[in-house]
Amino acid sequence: MKKYVRDLRVTENIRLHENYVLIKLTDSIPLPEMQPGQFAEIRVDHSPTTFLRRPISINFVDQQKNEIWFLIQMVGDGTRCLAEVKKGDNVNVLFPLGKGFSILSDTSKKALLIGGGVGTAPMLFLGEQLRLKGFSPCFLLGARSAKDLLQLSEFEKYGKVYVTTEDGSRGERGYVTSHTILSEESFDMIYTCGPKPMMVAVAKYAKEHGIECEVSLENHMACGLGACLCCVEDIKDEGNVCVCKEGPVFNIKKLLWQI
Ligand SMILES: Cc1cc2nc3c(=O)[nH]c(=O)nc-3n(C[C@H](O)[C@H](O)[C@H](O)COP(=O)(O)OP(=O)(O)OC[C@H]3O[C@@H](n4cnc5c(N)ncnc54)[C@H](O)[C@@H]3O)c2cc1C
Ligand code: FES
Repeated sequence: MKKYVRDLRVTENIRLHENYVLIKLTDSIPLPEMQPGQFAEIRVDHSPTTFLRRPISINFVDQQKNEIWFLIQMVGDGTRCLAEVKKGDNVNVLFPLGKGFSILSDTSKKALLIGGGVGTAPMLFLGEQLRLKGFSPCFLLGARSAKDLLQLSEFEKYGKVYVTTEDGSRGERGYVTSHTILSEESFDMIYTCGPKPMMVAVAKYAKEHGIECEVSLENHMACGLGACLCCVEDIKDEGNVCVCKEGPVFNIKKLLWQI
């Protein structure tokens, strides 16, 4: 898939939470085709300590408005600086990168999309694309507390949304893997992105129940293009591969995780 480096213009910067912003960007020409699970490398201007671009998942593509959305969690100088962009600013974006989620061909199959923390970001675009293709996706979103659940009304546009919070302030108390939906319904495919312990627990559940499962890895990245080798993951039968190029999405059968 062809990659582009473009200066995109900020149309909105919405503060969703004390630590998260949603930035929406557009271009004067049509945005390229993108797949859910792919990501962008965003150049961070005006940060004296951030020299490398930062990898950020494609949160959503609004075809009608020719907009791409990024959900940004402020964790360090780079993301804090990105979170300060204002309407009208230009942001330099290298995209779309990596290989995204595979979409099932049989629309009678049931897909569960599990996201935790900022790992919910790619699930919105995936859910919308599944819905457009005739699926009825379910979302299972986990957070520490009700205030940490983001974009719920957006997710509700594309499927049924189940929630867990660690403090029980919304949905079921606990982790996503303890939600009752997992024992009450059966799924053919699980897609997941979030903190590694969560993805490992989801992968274990999927493996034990014979469910196909794809995870989106968030290994540290620099170039995003397969050149610097800083993002490698040891993959079954293939050895070390660059997550930025061969992933970030992998079927759990390919991973060497102890699950
Ligand atoms: C494929 C991919 C998609 C991503 N999608 C998103 C997204 O949609 N939204 C979002 O907010 N973030 C996303 N991230 C994580 C994001 O890239 C990092 O949080 C960011 O690079 C940190 O940059 P910084 O300069 O703010 O922090 P730094 O000062 O570089 O680091 C601050 C802290 O964050 C940790 N950190 C840095 N990179 C990562 C990482 N990849 N995973 C976990 N911890 C990290 C560091 O170890 C350090 O503790 C994604 C990462 C990858 C690889
Ligand atoms: S980030 Fe450079 S090879 Fe993957």
